[in-house]
Amino acid sequence: MKITTLRSETTAKIYAWKEAGLTVGFVPTMGALHRGHISLIEEARKTCDIVTCSIFVNPIQFNNTSDLDTYPKTIEADIEKLENAGCDLVFIPDTEEMYPEPVTEKYDFGALENVLEGAFRPGHFNGVAVVVKRLFDIMIPDMAFFGEKDYQQLLIIKALVLHDNIPVEIVPCPIIREKDGLAMSSRNTRLSENERTVAPFIYNTLCKAAEMGKTHTIEQIVSWGEAQFNNNDNFKLEYFQIADNIELQPVVNKKKSDNARLLVAAWLGKVRLIDNVDINF
Ligand code: PAJ
Repeated sequence: MKITTLRSETTAKIYAWKEAGLTVGFVPTMGALHRGHISLIEEARKTCDIVTCSIFVNPIQFNNTSDLDTYPKTIEADIEKLENAGCDLVFIPDTEEMYPEPVTEKYDFGALENVLEGAFRPGHFNGVAVVVKRLFDIMIPDMAFFGEKDYQQLLIIKALVLHDNIPVEIVPCPIIREKDGLAMSSRNTRLSENERTVAPFIYNTLCKAAEMGKTHTIEQIVSWGEAQFNNNDNFKLEYFQIADNIELQPVVNKKKSDNARLLVAAWLGKVRLIDNVDINF
């Protein structure tokens, strides 16, 4: 596996592969890799001739400095995991390489950026869009793989690609979970032993709420879910919402056989966790 740190050498290498007629898949990450990330590499491996990845903890998407400072870094283990998964190239730039000048780009994603994560993490999605656009310019992928774990991010990236007319196919990948249901996340390593034990409550509650889809009103499901979290001292709930799976606007009236997404964000101690599931009516 080739390891690069400079934009120019990275693009030159990938350009040569493309010139030779090979298709290029790309998986952007912030490192501290787990099986969720590796599932995206494996998906890319199945569909593309060349698999590339980036590891960059993007400072401009963190609206909370302590979250940025404590973001786990495991670069050597990451490289080994990528190598074992059959990745061909990993780009690991420093901040100066990605942001030699102050960032001025400002995206407008309309209604999609003002709800859920966008409402609780101001500036977050602009930071994500800026870095992903730059990474697409450097990695020139034919296909890019994103996890449904960050469901709103996936929709933002699809909107970015449409907005900037980027010739890349965005491939959504399912959420990979621990045996007890907890969605894998780099931030899980920051949970204490006790917090880790109670963390599956999030997914369990989502599943029970999703089962209520056909028999209860939206209001009943949402208030039930909120009450579960509010009655559990371990968690501080930010949102528990049912949203349409296009613009993530709150669903008010359900239409039979409609598909929507049930999304949650909650603090467990000092760690903010997000998760989501499909819900059918
Ligand atoms: P990061 O949190 O490292 O995630 C990288 C990719 O892995 C994202 O597409 C994310 O949705 C996916 N992922 C994380 N956990 C997953 C899980 N349990 N199952 C399936 N996929 C999972 O998302 C980011 O980095 C950044 O915002 C980034 C896009 C790299 C821009 O900086």
